[in-house]
Amino acid sequence: MDLSLRINGSEHVLDVDPRVTLLDLLRERLGLTGSKKGCDQGQCGACTVLADGRRIVACLALAVSYDGAEVVTIEGLEDHPLQRAFIEHDAFQCGYCTPGQIMSAVGYLAEGGGGDPGAIREGMSGNLCRCGAYVNIVAAIGEVA
Ligand code: FES
Ligand code: FES
Repeated sequence: MDLSLRINGSEHVLDVDPRVTLLDLLRERLGLTGSKKGCDQGQCGACTVLADGRRIVACLALAVSYDGAEVVTIEGLEDHPLQRAFIEHDAFQCGYCTPGQIMSAVGYLAEGGGGDPGAIREGMSGNLCRCGAYVNIVAAIGEVA
């Protein structure tokens, strides 16, 4: 099927298998490997991207159902305050969950999420960190909020 996407500000017109997920399209076809495949089942949030400003798990999103959408991946953020806050607060260990955490946090703040630690934990509950960097992740998001 024909698919048209605007990804990180660039137009892409693609011929895709209708079964391909947005995550596989980004990673395997377009080389945008910042979005990670953790569980491939919608449970870890490592693949979180923004589609028309809303955060979604790209592993459960069929690419063709986002025809015409504006997609932003971690590669599309440029010197974002959240990126600097994650570094300053040491909000990662292995870093595998980090792109998804940051994209989800961008969505959380865009939704009007505030700096209360409990609200951040609830708002970010779809993003798991196997290294357990949660305390510093919450601090980083809280600072930007
Ligand atoms: S890889 Fe998409 S939620 Fe885990
Ligand atoms: S930093 Fe390793 S999984 Fe989060």
